[in-house]
Amino acid sequence: MKYKSIVATRLGGLDALQIMENDLRPPSPGEARIRVLATPVCQDDIAMRVGNRPFLAKPPFVPGYAFIGVVEAIGEEVEDVAVGDRVASLTQYGSHAEVIYWNAKELVHVPESLDPAEAVTLILNYLVAYQILHRVVCAREGDKALLIGASGGVGTAFLQLGKLAGLKMYGLASPSKHPILTEAGAVSIDYHRQDFVRVIRQSEPDGLNYVFNGMGEEYVERGLKVLGRGGVFVHYGGPQSFWSFLLLAAKFIGYNLLPNGKKIKGYGTHREDVNQFKEDWMALFNFLEEGEIRPIIAQKFPILEAVQAYELLESGQVTGNLVLMAPELL
Ligand SMILES: NC(=O)c1ccc[n+]([C@@H]2O[C@H](COP(=O)([O-])OP(=O)(O)OC[C@H]3O[C@@H](n4cnc5c(N)ncnc54)[C@H](OP(=O)(O)O)[C@@H]3O)[C@@H](O)[C@H]2O)c1
Repeated sequence: MKYKSIVATRLGGLDALQIMENDLRPPSPGEARIRVLATPVCQDDIAMRVGNRPFLAKPPFVPGYAFIGVVEAIGEEVEDVAVGDRVASLTQYGSHAEVIYWNAKELVHVPESLDPAEAVTLILNYLVAYQILHRVVCAREGDKALLIGASGGVGTAFLQLGKLAGLKMYGLASPSKHPILTEAGAVSIDYHRQDFVRVIRQSEPDGLNYVFNGMGEEYVERGLKVLGRGGVFVHYGGPQSFWSFLLLAAKFIGYNLLPNGKKIKGYGTHREDVNQFKEDWMALFNFLEEGEIRPIIAQKFPILEAVQAYELLESGQVTGNLVLMAPELL
């Protein structure tokens, strides 16, 4: 028996991708074999393939940062999950495949009542927004925040979780995507034409509590300008190159030494703890079950048609999330 995966065979454009076939094998000790039901497409899948993520996977690799699937087989010593369980995990790469083998200890059980396409957006995009809001800055009702990159996968998760936490939000987005910000009660700023520093300083003379930056280090200085005393700039955008990482690190050190009461912090899922992920995924599953959040799914594609989804995400036209699905669920 065989299964297929999407493989980035080398650094490059969409032509670097191929569908490859592998033999199914029994899971190793501690591992589960999972049939993938849903897997999100995110900016890092593309950035890794084109060579813009110096610390993430190098080709050949299977893209795919997260998955939800059904356990098909388990290896020896696996106690946490059983065949037939619906599970999920964060993988960084490897999920854009019909089947994935994964360490059973890193799997979380997913309630059967949840739609897999919606639920899989919680595993990466909502997790990032939730952890930054509730573990990094510990946001409180009435706090004010700027979202840089407000209309994308992580950005729309911030909009919904920020609204739920009672934040006053400003968001940078292209004008065609402003309705989604308005729906969440955020003030939209067209960063192509408007100077966001001026707009925010006019409406918030005392400054904001937080800036959440999913873009590059070029936003650091302007982001710091809109913070009030005690404000925190959280950078979660993946560095595009080793040099941009060094520049960002230098800015972190330099600006954190200034006696202006403002702080810069970094967030990356690779540095966090799987047990905290599980705790936070349970909270997010609960929000979804209760209808407190409603992930925006721009489009779904069959897993093996991932190239179309990557192309769409690269076009910059997507609001919310793209999800690859097992074809029988479409
Ligand atoms: N640290 C972590 O663990 C972690 C995890 C997940 C994601 N991330 C990072 O989060 C970022 C967003 O990922 P994503 O998957 O949510 O991406 P996405 O869905 O493609 O969204 C990115 C959004 O950014 C906006 N944008 C593009 N250029 C911009 C610019 N110059 N200024 C302001 N906004 C701009 C685009 O919308 P408009 O058309 O409205 O401009 C787009 O919707 C990426 O940098 C990724 O590396 C980090």
